[in-house]
Amino acid sequence: MKLLDGKVCAESLVADISSKVAGYVNSGLRKPHMTVILVGEHAPSESYVKSKIKSCSSAGFESELLRFPEAVTEQELLSRIAMINADPATDGVIVQLPLPKHINPQHVINAISPDKDIDGFHPTNFGRMTLGQKAFRPATAYGICKLLQFYEIPVKAKHCVVIGRSNIVGKPISIMLSNDFEIGNATVTLTHIETPRQLLLDETRRADIIVVAVGIPGFVTEDMVKDGVVMIDVGINRLENGKIVGDVDFEAVSRKCSWITPVPGGVGRMTVAALMINTLMAYQNNFNLA
Ligand code: GUN
Repeated sequence: MKLLDGKVCAESLVADISSKVAGYVNSGLRKPHMTVILVGEHAPSESYVKSKIKSCSSAGFESELLRFPEAVTEQELLSRIAMINADPATDGVIVQLPLPKHINPQHVINAISPDKDIDGFHPTNFGRMTLGQKAFRPATAYGICKLLQFYEIPVKAKHCVVIGRSNIVGKPISIMLSNDFEIGNATVTLTHIETPRQLLLDETRRADIIVVAVGIPGFVTEDMVKDGVVMIDVGINRLENGKIVGDVDFEAVSRKCSWITPVPGGVGRMTVAALMINTLMAYQNNFNLA
């Protein structure tokens, strides 16, 4: 079993970005600028946002964190997003999810200019990605592709099983791995909460690559996988003892894997790196750079 080390891969990608940014800044351009919107107090979101801001500084970007209280209205958020859309000093904006219950996340996502939608959640980018056109790709799914590419894991013609159909991970990764992309051309099965147990087992037991994003510690057990599987664990679950674990029973399952992502230090790091790639692309688009 070998580890798909998200830390090593992310650091390498961010180092590349930072050298490109240094070149642009030396030629007289301003730095890329990311704006992050955080609503309310949600411990995991605080930690994700902190790592995004930290990564901006490693990449040579400027970043700005806009905090709103839990009670902010949808209209207030939409007005602020309209201002950011019109502000030439910001290349990309993300609204950290989840949002409080009284705010419809789709209204907020739809209000972001597709040109600044570095999370790739706007219907325009999601549609363009689905059609194989140039787009900001959803960061976690894109990060998984970059990790597979970095470790030269073959994807083409492989059988991939995705567990979980969320708009932020399961749905986009199932599309990306099946599309005619650089890291793609796989045969993909998307399973979800309504998939009958036996059908899920039939699929996972013959999968070459499994991507699991369900948010349930220990969901993938040893009996569910074949020897040599490549396991991508998207889960980030905090146990009562404070330990962070994924959706895979790592100890037992890893013995059967050819490759597996650790948690932490796997996909989470790649989400942030992919966001940096998207921000650089937004900036390059803004300044008509290659
Ligand atoms: N919450 C969990 N994952 C994500 C993500 O990739 N982007 C945003 N904005 N919020 C999230």
